[in-house]
Amino acid sequence: MSAQSLLYEGKAKIIYTTDDPEIVLAHFKDDATAFNAQKRGSISGKGEINCTISTALFQYLEKLGIPTHFIDSVSPNQMRVMRLRILPLEVVVRNIAAGSLCQQTGLPLGTVLKQPLVEFYYKNDALGDPLLTRDRLLLLELATPEQIAQLQQLALQINQYLSDFFKKCGITLVDFKLEFGLDSQGQLRLADEISPDTCRLWNQADTDPNNRVMDKDRFRRDLGNVEDAYQQVLKLVLAQTANQD
Ligand code: TMP
Ligand code: ASP
Repeated sequence: MSAQSLLYEGKAKIIYTTDDPEIVLAHFKDDATAFNAQKRGSISGKGEINCTISTALFQYLEKLGIPTHFIDSVSPNQMRVMRLRILPLEVVVRNIAAGSLCQQTGLPLGTVLKQPLVEFYYKNDALGDPLLTRDRLLLLELATPEQIAQLQQLALQINQYLSDFFKKCGITLVDFKLEFGLDSQGQLRLADEISPDTCRLWNQADTDPNNRVMDKDRFRRDLGNVEDAYQQVLKLVLAQTANQD
């Protein structure tokens, strides 16, 4: 398997074709952006860290029966994944109020939600990734009613599995973003990545609202020690993975 031509370059990843039309190579970059790329920077070692964490979490979820795009890892910052038709949706699951939920509803930061909240955002940079209603999803034909129900169910199941996993790492899974795509059989599969770029992760042992942050909010909000936090998550995830084997 060799990387061939560049298929797509996003903010945090480059996707290459391979000699197999059903398989692409995802290369994880150190580049970091926030606020729809208005803020740009780099987090040293992030590509390798996020690729390694995502590999561990995709393998964990696959073992529990969640279909993902993951095939194998070929180097510390590159994984082979199935070529999917990616739905232009960001599926966000929230357990605790933070980020845009607080900004848009006035809920205080840290409010524990009575039940997990699943939200759909339109993945469209020009429009600023707006929050969608179910009717808007259907209007824009971004997913069928059956797919919406399946995405909701998958998102909640993944939330349970990831929350359990991170709890054992001493980390609270506050919220996270997922992307899905359809494979050649028309089956929905989890795609993209699961990493400190796409999750809010709080250190359970620390109640200080800034110190406890172990994810990309350190970069978004200029909290400092970004690399250290990512390294710490990597260490805990790998230790927990080794524990489960
Ligand atoms: P939000 O509170 O800003 O809406 O973010 C919710 C979750 O989604 C949080 O864990 C960060 C993640 N996220 C992404 O992965 N990509 C994005 O572009 C945004 C806005 C959020
Ligand atoms: N990835 C996002 C962007 O730059 C922002 C974020 O993760 O907050 O568009």
